[in-house]
Formats: sequence, structure tokens, C-alpha cells
Amino acid sequence: MSNDCDNKSEQGVALITGASAGIGSATAHRLARAGYSVVLTGRRADRLESIAEDIQNAGGTARALAGDVTSDEDMIRAVGAAGELGEITALVANAGIIPIEPLEDSDLARWHRTVDTNLSGILRCVHAVLPTMFQQKRGDIVLLSSVAGRQTFPEASVYCATKAAINHFADCLRGDLAKRCAKDGGHLRVCVVQPGIVQTELFESIDHEPTREATKAYINALDEPLLPEDIAEIIAWVLQSPRHVSINDIVVRPTAMTR
Ligand SMILES: NC(=O)c1ccc[n+]([C@@H]2O[C@H](COP(=O)([O-])OP(=O)(O)OC[C@H]3O[C@@H](n4cnc5c(N)ncnc54)[C@H](OP(=O)(O)O)[C@@H]3O)[C@@H](O)[C@H]2O)c1
Repeated sequence: MSNDCDNKSEQGVALITGASAGIGSATAHRLARAGYSVVLTGRRADRLESIAEDIQNAGGTARALAGDVTSDEDMIRAVGAAGELGEITALVANAGIIPIEPLEDSDLARWHRTVDTNLSGILRCVHAVLPTMFQQKRGDIVLLSSVAGRQTFPEASVYCATKAAINHFADCLRGDLAKRCAKDGGHLRVCVVQPGIVQTELFESIDHEPTREATKAYINALDEPLLPEDIAEIIAWVLQSPRHVSINDIVVRPTAMTR
């Protein structure tokens, strides 16, 4: 199955949250190569601008729009900006943090921030994009979860809980959208992607230094972690599958990751 397409109006617009780094940035590059016009959001405007410029220089169409997934207004604005570029055919809700720490040092504000970013952040952008996708009767929603959504990891209860909630949300949403497609026609799909360890900056968001260093040591000891480009390739494949094919759930680990 070929993933590349030159027809930008056919591919439409992909809105990507957390596009200033890691999986989001790699996905923006990959989807631009596949012919999508990409709208990149995240908090660091300078990074977004620079990634968008790289994409434009490579012949793609990209727009950078600073925004925080913990803000309802920012997500509504991001969807509005994406809609100005064309039909929003894909939402990649990817922004996330992993501020894990031992329970003895747990900080309630950090727990709230994790839920507000990882879970409510996804709900905000999905809620903002749904009316457009209903109207178009077409659209793909890709949610970034984790293997931590299907199994627990020590001292990571809140992170794991947000990812498990995303999995349930995705499954319900998929069924509800499918019901509408069956009744009214159209192609509204949902896929949840659950990676194991990917080599990105994510672990820098661990404030608790001993935990951060131990986590980074674990990742560095992995012979070959996944790269953000590996996940971007999978997302492109999901989006480019024939419209009657709905890939619901992908679990992907580095080959040498044992659990
Ligand atoms: N790396 C892994 O091993 C791994 C494994 C499984 C799942 N995941 C999931 O994959 C997703 C992407 O992670 P990554 O590994 O690519 O991490 P990353 O390199 O740290 O990228 C995270 C992205 O999220 C954005 N972000 C964080 N808080 C935000 C907020 N409040 N508003 C808007 N954007 C925000 C960051 O941008 P700004 O800082 O500029 O806002 C950044 O672009 C996350 O949901 C993560 O849980 C990662």
C-alpha cells in the first residue's frame, strides 16, 4: 500500500498537537510528505515555526500555531486555523507529559497537570473537531496512548490512568462514530496508538531527578528503542488505509522491550 500522495486537496488538512518535538514533529513531516497540509500546535512557538519552515522548504504546506492543550480556547482556535487551510481530514492528538515520581513525593498539582494535558487535552481537541468532521462525514482521529494504558508501571499510576482512559475513550468514540456512518454514510475513523519506549524528549518532563535519571538510564540501556519516525510511519499507514478499513488499535514496542 503506497502512503504517498501528491494531491493535497484530496488529502486535506492534518491537525497535530504536540508537534514541536518527538512523535508529533516526525508525524508532521511524514504527513506533509504524504500530501497533507499540516497544522502544528504546541506551546513552544519558536520550535513550531522552525519545523513548519523545514516542511515548507521541503515542498510541503505547514502552519505553526502556538497553543496549549490545557486551554479550551486554544484548541478551538487551532481547529479554526486548520479549517482555514481546507477540510480537516485528520486529527493527531499527541501532546503528552510523563511527570512520574515516587508516591512519597507526589504532588497533587502535577497529578492534575498530567490529567489535564494527557486526557483532557485529547478531549478538548476531539470535541473541537467533531462538528467539522460530522459535517464533512469524513475524518480520522488518531490518539496517542501508550503500553502504559494496557499495563501498569511502578510509580506511574496517574500517567497509566490517563493512557488507560484514552483507550476506553477511543473505543467508545469509534463505536459511536461507526454507528453514525452506518446510518448516514461517511467515513469517520478512530485509531489509538500505544507505543512502548520511543527515543524522545518525553522523559525530560519528569521533574523528580532520580526518577528522571533512572528512566533515562533504562531507555539508554535498550539496544534499539523506537524512533519517532517509526510511529509517524505507522500513523501515515493508518491514515492512508482504504476508507472502508478502520485500524482501531496499534500496540508497538521496540523488539527488545520485554514488557
Ligand atoms: N516517548 C515514549 O516512549 C512514548 C511512549 C508511549 C507513548 N508516548 C506518548 O506519545 C506522545 C508524544 O510524546 P513524545 O514521546 O513525542 O514526547 P515529546 O518529545 O516530549 O513531545 C511531547 C509534545 O507534547 C507537547 N506538549 C506537552 N504539553 C503540552 C501542552 N500543555 N500543550 C500543548 N502541547 C504540549 C510538547 O510541546 P511543547 O512543550 O512545545 O508544548 C511536545 O511537542 C505523548 O502523548 C506520550 O505520552 C510516548
